[in-house]
Amino acid sequence: MFDLIIRNANVLQPGGTTVPADVACHRGKIEQITATSGINGRETIDARGLLLLPGVIDPQVHFREPGATHKEDLSSGSRAAVRGGVTSFLEMPNCNPPTTNQAQLDWKLASAERRSVANFGFFIGASKDNLEALNTAHPACGIKIFMGTSTGDLLIDDEDLLDTIFATGDRLIAVHAEDETRIRERSSLFLGAGNDRPSYEIHSQIRDPETALVATQRAVRLSKKYGRRLHILHLSTAEEVDFLRLEKPPQVSCEVVPNHLFLSSDDYRQLGSRVQMNPPVRVPENAPALWQGLLDGVIDIIATDHAPHTAEEKRQPYPLSPSGMPGVETSLPLMLTEVAGGQCTLQQIQEWMSHGPARLYGIPDKGLIAEGFDADLTLVDLERYRPVVNEEIFSRAGWSPYSGRQLTGWPVYTVVNGRVVFDHGEIRPGIYGQALNFTEPTGCR
Ligand code: DOR
Repeated sequence: MFDLIIRNANVLQPGGTTVPADVACHRGKIEQITATSGINGRETIDARGLLLLPGVIDPQVHFREPGATHKEDLSSGSRAAVRGGVTSFLEMPNCNPPTTNQAQLDWKLASAERRSVANFGFFIGASKDNLEALNTAHPACGIKIFMGTSTGDLLIDDEDLLDTIFATGDRLIAVHAEDETRIRERSSLFLGAGNDRPSYEIHSQIRDPETALVATQRAVRLSKKYGRRLHILHLSTAEEVDFLRLEKPPQVSCEVVPNHLFLSSDDYRQLGSRVQMNPPVRVPENAPALWQGLLDGVIDIIATDHAPHTAEEKRQPYPLSPSGMPGVETSLPLMLTEVAGGQCTLQQIQEWMSHGPARLYGIPDKGLIAEGFDADLTLVDLERYRPVVNEEIFSRAGWSPYSGRQLTGWPVYTVVNGRVVFDHGEIRPGIYGQALNFTEPTGCR
């Protein structure tokens, strides 16, 4: 008797084709994938008409615990995650206090164990004086460096310190690549005397494409100098894609977030500061270059940079309005709507959103539907289009920049470690995720 049988699902196989099959889960693992229906389980899901995908691994979220739990916490953020088919997340260190030492990391791990309904991993954040902790804090999925300021106080804008961090240790370094000097110069240029009511659009001009490119080039230079494993977070410009197409060493990987694929600076008109984020949304001509980067493999994976702020906080005038938007529960339907429209394939979604993140962060046994892999799964309905509705958003932020968009591929069930956590819009009580394991970095191609 298995713990769970998912019967008659259309199952996405590692090679990218789908087959009708029954999937048996037991003790957290995918135990059997079979065409025969002679197996029994303690729970059976009738999945006829639904597509079974490996659970999404979202490798960049901000869940605000500790310090700003009115925006999100590990419970609300992880609930939003499973609603969106995300079964594991990697969370950023810019909470308050920030995750910059073993004690803060332990605190987060303990809180997540009690409250997160998805599997979890945490970054350790680089500060001015925590070089040792960066390389010893355990378990951490990597080191996060803010090369330019964003939400919170973490910032490494000193070239020598940046060099030292790249030179010390071998753990993966993930960078928020925006150049702080240029941000400061352009902030005083655009926000100087005579501009007391700046529009939100100005954010994209202050943090222009050059701001991102300069920092991305600096990080790649340092990675090459020391052979250091580098992941570039939320690539946002055609210029960065062009640069990486020519110069991406094997130890460098990068990601894009749906916001830079599906939103643009035109959206400030309707949505104002709701689309303000770092790095900012760009002119509409930019997104095709990011898509091309994804399709031809320059960009490796997709993250959301889920960065919840309340609608009230967002209403403040620029530059008091905070940067970031929620996204963890809409990324899979956004991408599956593209599959339905023929823009990409299920196999690419599997690579960009499940297996790729597992591979790049060294998370064993996740990201594919195969016997022996962890039973982290999501069953989605590709037949029905439904709009994004602010009132239905699970994130404590309570809104989405995609409100009103008709999307398909919404999760009906999400299974974490072989247990059904999300079931037709509801979270089942008493089920929690586990801390992720990270193996040693082995390079990324
Ligand atoms: O827009 C952003 N918001 N970008 C980041 O890098 C951080 C995030 C946040 O934590 O609010």
